[in-house]
Amino acid sequence: MALFAFPDFDYTSFDVPTPYYVVDKARIRRNMELLKHVQDRSGAKILLALKAFSTWGVFDTMSPYLAGATASSIYEAQLGHEYFGKELHIYSPAYSKAEINYLKTVAHTIVFNSVNQWKTFESKLSNCGRKIEIGLRVNPEYSEVKYEMYNPCTSRSRFGIREDGLYGVSLDGVDGFHFHTICQQGSDVLERTLLHVEQRFDRYFPMLKWINFGGGHHITRMGYDVEHLINLLIDFKERTGLQIYLEPGEAHVLYSGFIVTSVLDIIANPNNLSVVIVDTSAAAHMPDVLEMPYMPEIVGARRTIEEADAPLESARYKYIIGGKTCLSGDIIGEYQFKKPLIVGDRLVFSDMSQYTMCKNTMFNGLQLPSIVSCDSDVPGGDFKLLRQFGYEDFKSRLS
Ligand SMILES: Cc1ncc(COP(=O)(O)O)c(C=O)c1O
Repeated sequence: MALFAFPDFDYTSFDVPTPYYVVDKARIRRNMELLKHVQDRSGAKILLALKAFSTWGVFDTMSPYLAGATASSIYEAQLGHEYFGKELHIYSPAYSKAEINYLKTVAHTIVFNSVNQWKTFESKLSNCGRKIEIGLRVNPEYSEVKYEMYNPCTSRSRFGIREDGLYGVSLDGVDGFHFHTICQQGSDVLERTLLHVEQRFDRYFPMLKWINFGGGHHITRMGYDVEHLINLLIDFKERTGLQIYLEPGEAHVLYSGFIVTSVLDIIANPNNLSVVIVDTSAAAHMPDVLEMPYMPEIVGARRTIEEADAPLESARYKYIIGGKTCLSGDIIGEYQFKKPLIVGDRLVFSDMSQYTMCKNTMFNGLQLPSIVSCDSDVPGGDFKLLRQFGYEDFKSRLS
């Protein structure tokens, strides 16, 4: 991962105040080419899950390679409709009447979480004057996700219809099934999951046109077994005749985004471990750092948790890097640098496209990082400032 995450390209060179997210379209293109290869070889269709990445300013780099996008709300659906085009799918744990009234004007596919919700809106959708594909989310009651927060198959799960929930239900009017049980995992997990899906639901397959394997497939991650995935997809399609959809979010933009931030202060601490305050925040600008949790990499630095690896340098300067909010836990992590840091240094956090710009907050009234695109394949980087945020953005969400 570090090989690809640590770029030669200098993302700090753009003359705009920090903090800023920078999305490198060259890196997205590499992901897109791999995803297109999977689609071309396997016949599966791949959608972008907008919940992970909805930076519409770079959708023109993605849309030509993909079958469409999938939304989890009406705002994402509207964004997908306006800026992504192609097939627009939607899944939400529940819909209101008003939401269905909007979705029936733009959706290609609507996936319901329960038989009850499907039945509630069935006639409205079949009489709306457009053909809308109908899907049901099923719950195969098998997931290898260890962390409960991200496991959709626990006994308390509210996601999808379990096997016994379909007993006695006529699937007349249902076009496909959807399941989502994987999180940042490989094709080996998909293979084991499919055994459970088929064991519980394959008797319904002859009545369906398609099946959506959900997200969580880390297809573009270094070391992902792409050939194994393609073989699984081909085999499943040949055996069932179903059109397969995949709807990852992260995989589209892995390794493509960075947060460029400045050192504002360095507070000496005992034990040779100074604390650095930067003009970004884990809590507000990279929430998954606290929620997952994980520690992002910094270009040119080493995470202290990696100390067991071969030493980078003998002399290292250790710092705890913390954000600019009042939350005590707003700590990004502990890092080691080759040179001492000074106030004004720009640091680059890597892998910051997914679940950041679409999930950040203005907690503490903190300024949101600007959004910048670039293209590291173009001389000079073709930096573009897509969006800057200010006080009005903070005020306009409140009253
Ligand atoms: C239904 C559904 N589809 C797709 C995704 C995208 O998953 P990922 O970004 O992990 O690939 C998610 C993520 O939670 C999801 O809940």
